[in-house]
Amino acid sequence: MEFFDALKARHSVRAYADTPVEAEKLVQILDMVNLAPSAGNLQAFEVYIVTRADQRSELVAAASGQDFLKQAPVVLVFCAHAARSEKKYGKRGIELYCLQDATIACTYAMLAATALGLSTVWVGAFNESEVGCIIDAPQAHRPVAMLPIGYAAEEPRIRGRRSLSDLVHRV
Ligand SMILES: Cc1cc2nc3c(=O)[nH]c(=O)nc-3n(C[C@H](O)[C@H](O)[C@H](O)COP(=O)(O)O)c2cc1C
Repeated sequence: MEFFDALKARHSVRAYADTPVEAEKLVQILDMVNLAPSAGNLQAFEVYIVTRADQRSELVAAASGQDFLKQAPVVLVFCAHAARSEKKYGKRGIELYCLQDATIACTYAMLAATALGLSTVWVGAFNESEVGCIIDAPQAHRPVAMLPIGYAAEEPRIRGRRSLSDLVHRV
């Protein structure tokens, strides 16, 4: 899919078919994640892949019942790894860069999945410590975004946007 077409085609999907995600597609997505920019190229993030049905059900509970997390065959959990950024950037690395690194990586995954004909929705509403336990992450890995990936079982609702004249400030 052409890049701008992928940007336009991406919409949050909250119902997924049983169809598995092909292993090659998952590898392609992860390869794209690993191209994401990061502060100082320190890649202060970690990615956890959740495919087990029981763990996906636990993620639902940790995310206020967001049921589509168990429908999607794959859920990626993006964790900020502050210590990697702290070494070079101190407080700014801890408070900002590692979060940006992790969320840019999640954005790359989201767009790569779209380009491969898959659907996603960014999930930010969850209990971090519960998710950390489910994926068995050390304390140093802070879950900041989850990304269910799968084949859509619904037509996504198209959400409007602010106008550029409201959003953009020329200075
Ligand atoms: C930081 C962030 C957190 C989000 N958290 C959730 C979430 O917990 N659950 C959910 O269903 N959607 C979540 N979303 C998806 C947004 O609701 C969605 O992107 C927005 O409504 C625009 O719709 P679109 O993605 O279809 O363009 C989140 C998106 C972002 C960027």
